[in-house]
Amino acid sequence: MKRLAVLGHPVAHSRSPAMHNAALAELGLGGEWRYEAIDLAPDELEPRVRAMEGEGVAGANVTVPHKGAALSLADTLSETAREIGAANTLSFAAGEIHADNTDAQGLLDALPTSPAGKRSLVLGAGGAARAVVWALLREGAEVDVWNRTPSRAQHLCEELGGRPVESNPMDIRFYDLIVNSTSVGLRDEDTFAELPFAASDLEAKHTVVDLVYSGCPSQLLTIAAHVGASYVGGLEILVRQGALSLEIWTGRSAPLDVMRDAARARRRI
Ligand code: ATR
Repeated sequence: MKRLAVLGHPVAHSRSPAMHNAALAELGLGGEWRYEAIDLAPDELEPRVRAMEGEGVAGANVTVPHKGAALSLADTLSETAREIGAANTLSFAAGEIHADNTDAQGLLDALPTSPAGKRSLVLGAGGAARAVVWALLREGAEVDVWNRTPSRAQHLCEELGGRPVESNPMDIRFYDLIVNSTSVGLRDEDTFAELPFAASDLEAKHTVVDLVYSGCPSQLLTIAAHVGASYVGGLEILVRQGALSLEIWTGRSAPLDVMRDAARARRRI
């Protein structure tokens, strides 16, 4: 049995096992491969990851809070993971740990149209925002970055590019694409009390992306849909990054529809 896993803390809520096991079954690999969730506290990550190949683990997704640490402990890095400064996909073979990042391409695959030339506002400056900013800049978007703590946005832009913006409230009429890569919406907070614009500022011309997928849909996407904007939810991005990881490990083309259905079926709300 070849093992795959998602490593996080906490990780019990993850939809990745359901999504990947459904995909493996669809590909006829269900008898050979199994995907599980492994909860690892930060100090457990490195020793456990180093032991994984010996335990029959061929690959792992890495989620909050381990994406930075996963990059540091890898022996080899993809160019993408190195530039973003975070890894969400590890592969174990021949005694080496290889780190990759499929979050960036996963976001691009989920967008309805190319972001090339689009005026984009990225909200947040954590690990998730880094992959978003990197992906949008690589595709030729104009990227402004707003963060609750402005110094983090400045730091991110110094490293990756993009322009830090500080005003709150903000005039968002200028933007084509708005990406929420903060954790706002994850709990029951009022999204528009935390973000730098009001619900009434959203317009049909906007494309709104929310990386948060615990809502059904999130408050931000509910308003986006209401005003006729196009929108993409975090679940679709989860599916797309997972599909790319599965392709890295198995070399097989991932069954997107099956993965999407399985991820949705685990929806808690
Ligand atoms: P991740 O790696 O998932 O991006 P993170 O590094 O903890 O996680 O980043 C969380 C992001 O959500 C940060 O941009 C954070 O803003 P700060 O840098 O000011 O902490 C943002 N965030 C979290 N709660 C927020 C809130 N209530 N309002 C606005 N931004 C919030």
